[in-house]
Amino acid sequence: KNIVLFASGSGSNVENIVRYFQDNSKINISAVLSNKKDAKVLDRCNNLKINALYFNRNAFYATECVLDILKTFNPDLIVLAGFLWKIPENLIAAFPDKIVNIHPALLPKYGGKGMYGNNVHEAVRANNETETGITIHYVNENYDEGAVIRQVKTSVSADDTPESIARKVHELEYEYFPKVIAQLLEVE
Ligand code: GRF
Repeated sequence: KNIVLFASGSGSNVENIVRYFQDNSKINISAVLSNKKDAKVLDRCNNLKINALYFNRNAFYATECVLDILKTFNPDLIVLAGFLWKIPENLIAAFPDKIVNIHPALLPKYGGKGMYGNNVHEAVRANNETETGITIHYVNENYDEGAVIRQVKTSVSADDTPESIARKVHELEYEYFPKVIAQLLEVE
């Protein structure tokens, strides 16, 4: 089965997913695509010896360039792991139920535009939530609104800071995201 990953930033989830599947002969990580030329994820891919491609806004939204590249990989699953641009309709139409995202909160709470990275954890802290977590979901034409595949919770205490919440949430992401991908691809 072929996986294509999209990422915009650090790519610690990308690295975790690549390492999780590296000895699994049923899984091929075809490529990692990034919209940020200087994203740390591209250095990680270089070290991991994974194909990595950069694309700009024009290639993504104004042409079929990214779509055409994706088709060449024949992906069974497209995984958004910290990817911050909205997925255009042509990709959603071309890969129905094959695009999944991870969000660092319990959707529908703390989703939507502007809710990414530490903004999410700051909002969780500011609202004195007693729990937060991760949501793995299908991607549709609206930010953070596709069908939920899996949610996992963690508790938030009065001593937690946005940084400590981020660490807890990342731990959940590292543990569950590869497992859910394996389940979706039926390669456990
Ligand atoms: C993760 O928390 C993910 O849920 C969110 O962006 C973050 C990416 O972190 N969508 P990394 O780039 O994998 O380190």
